[in-house]
Amino acid sequence: MKTIMKVGVLTSGGDSSGMNAAVRAITRVGIRRGLQVFGIYGGFQGILDEVISELNSLSVSRILHRGGTFLTTGRSEEFKNEEGQVKAAKILEDRGFDALIAIGGDGTMRGLAALSNHWKGRLIGLPGTIDNDLFGTDYTIGFDTAVNNALEALDKIRDTAEAFSRVFLVEVMGRHSGFIAVHVGIATGASAIVIPETPTKIDDLAQRVNNAKAKAKTSVLVVVAEGDELGNANVIGDELSKRIGDKCRVSVLGYIQRGGNPTHMDRILATRLGAFAVECLLTGKDGGMVGEINGELTMTPFEETWSKKKPFDEWMMGLVDELSG
Ligand code: F6P
Repeated sequence: MKTIMKVGVLTSGGDSSGMNAAVRAITRVGIRRGLQVFGIYGGFQGILDEVISELNSLSVSRILHRGGTFLTTGRSEEFKNEEGQVKAAKILEDRGFDALIAIGGDGTMRGLAALSNHWKGRLIGLPGTIDNDLFGTDYTIGFDTAVNNALEALDKIRDTAEAFSRVFLVEVMGRHSGFIAVHVGIATGASAIVIPETPTKIDDLAQRVNNAKAKAKTSVLVVVAEGDELGNANVIGDELSKRIGDKCRVSVLGYIQRGGNPTHMDRILATRLGAFAVECLLTGKDGGMVGEINGELTMTPFEETWSKKKPFDEWMMGLVDELSG
């Protein structure tokens, strides 16, 4: 087997806190173990535009604690087409790369799988998305930070909700998934959690809110995942207001959830997965996304990361009503 010499690393899709920590681990562990590590800037587009430079130990200093991604990121339209993938493969080949490590969400894993049809170099993915919606890892890099960011905001909203005895709908991110909403909702004692994975019936939701109010609750919080099939929090809030005869207040948290210093959980996860990705390359494992399942470091074939559905903790969901008092 050819010894890996030249490894490219990039971050792609939505930034998530801990991506920097992962690049740092890949770079430092990679260099210590004899690899040459190159940063590719701007996601997959950075390959096509050849925005590539070699990283050394100092290039990744003082980034462990920083959110976002110093490599910058993107959602390249050009790379989504086969033509772009063929061009990227040729550039990687011409520049003598042996392997590519990409950190991102399901779009990134799809990108790596597509590239594998055109390039014989070795490919590894790291799960980096606040949505936590990838199969093959218990948590994705950035999820914990996003949940903590949202929690901080919700605790503040709770103060206002209590001061006025109001019903608040708070919208959190998660394009097609409710992981952020479920964790935030349970950790803030929400009366209801609205997510795309379960059908939302507006009359049932109104009943829940009325029940919560009837329990003499001084405030009612409903956490809504942005991707719910009924619509966003504003749409659901309007319908709910009509049914409960009270104006629901809506707060959309948006991008505030994504950035900020990574939590200790995200720094450790990113560091472990980054170092493990290098070990995988050195021991001849590739073609998949590294992850952590029940504390074990694993690798899952790219396609399974988006085609298989990550299971929800149904038991916890079932407790939401009882927990809210
Ligand atoms: O996938 C991460 C995420 O933050 C989603 O939760 C959100 O729907 C989406 O990215 C927003 O994407 P963009 O940054 O392109 O607006």
